[in-house]
Amino acid sequence: MRKDGTPITVSGHSVGKLFLRLETKLMVATLLALTLVMVIWNLQPFYENLISTTNRCSVATSGPFESLPIRPRNVSFGVGVKSLAEKKLVKPSPPADPNKRTFQEYGNAAALFVHMGAYRGGPRTFAVAGLASKPIHIFGKPWYKCEWVPYNGNSSIMAKVYKMLPDWGFGRVYTVVVVNCTFDSNPNADNSGGKLVLYAYYGESPLKYEKFTAMEEAPGSYNESQYSPPYKYEYLYCGSSLFGNLNAARVREWMAYHAWFLGPSSHFVFHDAGGVSAEVRSVLEPWIRAGRATLQDVRAQAAYDGYYHNQFLVVNDCLFRHRFAANWTFFFDVDEYIYLPDGNTLQSVLQEFSNVTQFTIEQYAMSSFMCLNDSTQEDHSRQWGFEKLLFRDSRTRIWRDRKYAIQAKNAYSTGVHLSENVTGATLHDTETKIRYYHYHNTINVQEELCHKLLPMFTKNTTTWFEKIPYVYDDSMKKLAPTIKEFEQNTIGSQHLLHS
Ligand SMILES: *[C@@H]1O[C@H](CO)[C@@H](O)[C@H](O)[C@H]1NC(C)=O
Ligand SMILES: *[C@@H]1O[C@H](CO)[C@@H](O)[C@H](O)[C@H]1NC(C)=O
Ligand SMILES: *[C@@H]1O[C@H](CO)[C@@H](O)[C@H](O)[C@H]1NC(C)=O
Ligand SMILES: *[C@@H]1O[C@H](CO)[C@@H](O)[C@H](O)[C@H]1NC(C)=O
Ligand SMILES: *[C@@H]1O[C@H](CO)[C@@H](O)[C@H](O)[C@H]1NC(C)=O
Ligand SMILES: *[C@@H]1O[C@H](CO)[C@@H](O)[C@H](O)[C@H]1NC(C)=O
Ligand SMILES: *[C@@H]1O[C@H](CO)[C@@H](O)[C@H](O)[C@H]1NC(C)=O
Ligand SMILES: *[C@@H]1O[C@H](CO)[C@@H](O)[C@H](O)[C@H]1NC(C)=O
Ligand SMILES: *[C@@H]1O[C@H](CO)[C@@H](O)[C@H](O)[C@H]1NC(C)=O
Repeated sequence: MRKDGTPITVSGHSVGKLFLRLETKLMVATLLALTLVMVIWNLQPFYENLISTTNRCSVATSGPFESLPIRPRNVSFGVGVKSLAEKKLVKPSPPADPNKRTFQEYGNAAALFVHMGAYRGGPRTFAVAGLASKPIHIFGKPWYKCEWVPYNGNSSIMAKVYKMLPDWGFGRVYTVVVVNCTFDSNPNADNSGGKLVLYAYYGESPLKYEKFTAMEEAPGSYNESQYSPPYKYEYLYCGSSLFGNLNAARVREWMAYHAWFLGPSSHFVFHDAGGVSAEVRSVLEPWIRAGRATLQDVRAQAAYDGYYHNQFLVVNDCLFRHRFAANWTFFFDVDEYIYLPDGNTLQSVLQEFSNVTQFTIEQYAMSSFMCLNDSTQEDHSRQWGFEKLLFRDSRTRIWRDRKYAIQAKNAYSTGVHLSENVTGATLHDTETKIRYYHYHNTINVQEELCHKLLPMFTKNTTTWFEKIPYVYDDSMKKLAPTIKEFEQNTIGSQHLLHS
């Protein structure tokens, strides 16, 4: 990490630090002049830095949900300038003591903060979602400060701030940080606009920090009614990072099923972390055109080593970005299918759950390779995945991951299997009302899934395979004709995909 030197940055907003660090204005002027010279010497690295910074920030600035204008943070190129300046300042006086060792740093392996998005969460409150160097949070005590700088000329206002680490324990080089900034009252009450500035401290010391504009609210853009019901949709899907070699046929089937399942008042947000090939894109495209889905390009996250393609960051960004888009927000994966047993309807089930903030959903694990040797059915290669994978792992009393849905307005941060920072109750006892089928190890498989064909009598017995008992379960298969017809009626046919 940086040693205790002055993190000189040239862009206007961080010059303030110099005043804290240095005694006299004369020194400031001298150093600034020196810095300017360095800038001119370093125009090449400046442009490189500018380009890469803009790329990273582009993650937060696309998509039709843009209710709040988000600006990339100002470019800071302090590191390169600093080390140069330091060489000039330090080198002329070599240590007199031969036993005094020096430590020369090169590069910067993990940023203090990587900003993905910042969103208003109501009249008084904001959330900033990003990544931060994990060791700094484990071994140090970094903290944050939020400031609202109004455009009406009034002085700026400070917020009450707390941070959450929603992937605590799972992060790698980076951990996910959600900063909650809550003001005493609406800082933009007169709608003259302003900006939310985040101060990120390196440690306990209030002297060492970075400062950037996390979000801007243009004059006249604040609209209070957006933060209370009725919301635009009943249901929103927040997908986590899509990566790997996704099978486009499986994605097509998933999309058709859930567009039907969640109904016309729903919307799907996908995050492409490198998994959306041209084929996958082409199966999502009709749904995007129909206004049913949004695809965010988050491939730039690959530069930051977090947990599984930064999925915790992506779901938190999605939570806050769409916090007031729907009554319920669902979090699950594209190899998982939500299902309502016993003739329940989604409307009735969620009505019943409306007094809880979140509920978790039990998993039914399906075999990824066992199919039925049924000569009355069409060829497996022409069937959909959930139409032919009919054998369910029937073990009980083993731990399986759960997925969940949440009333996003009551969540302060979120996870992949559950949110741990919510207000209100969490309901787990839901399996008679709602569950999900998990087709693990199918979404990345390109070849035919049916490797093992079981004889017809296995419909009525338990089939043991590698010490795991399987039972026949055609609940999903029974819906296939309905889903195919729905897809045809909604977006037309996609003849090319069958496998
Ligand atoms: C970025 O810096 C420019 C000039 O240095 C300033 O005009 C602008 O307000 C800054 N923007 C943000 C978002 O801080
Ligand atoms: C921040 O936390 C407060 C509770 O302390 C909560 O009321 C508010 O909704 C949170 N803001 C966001 C954006 O999550
Ligand atoms: C701006 O400051 C003035 C004087 O302190 C105050 O009367 C006014 O309410 C403030 N405006 C806003 C929008 O806070
Ligand atoms: C504020 O938002 C509501 C609902 O989103 C919308 O109906 C209304 O037209 C908006 N008002 C303004 C002034 O934009
Ligand atoms: C969504 O919320 C609105 C307003 O609170 C309510 O009238 C409606 O019934 C809810 N819909 C669902 C599906 O929960
Ligand atoms: C499937 O069943 C047919 C008879 O209906 C049989 O001839 C064939 O060998 C079976 N295939 C496998 C792989 O069990
Ligand atoms: C968030 O949840 C974690 C885990 O339950 C808890 O330790 C932490 O105190 C919570 N933070 C806030 C701000 O609610
Ligand atoms: C929600 O309402 C049901 C009755 O409809 C009740 O049994 C349950 O305790 C309530 N849960 C909470 C958290 O209030
Ligand atoms: C399974 O059992 C039912 C009765 O429980 C019977 O009608 C059916 O023919 C059996 N199917 C097979 C394939 O054995």
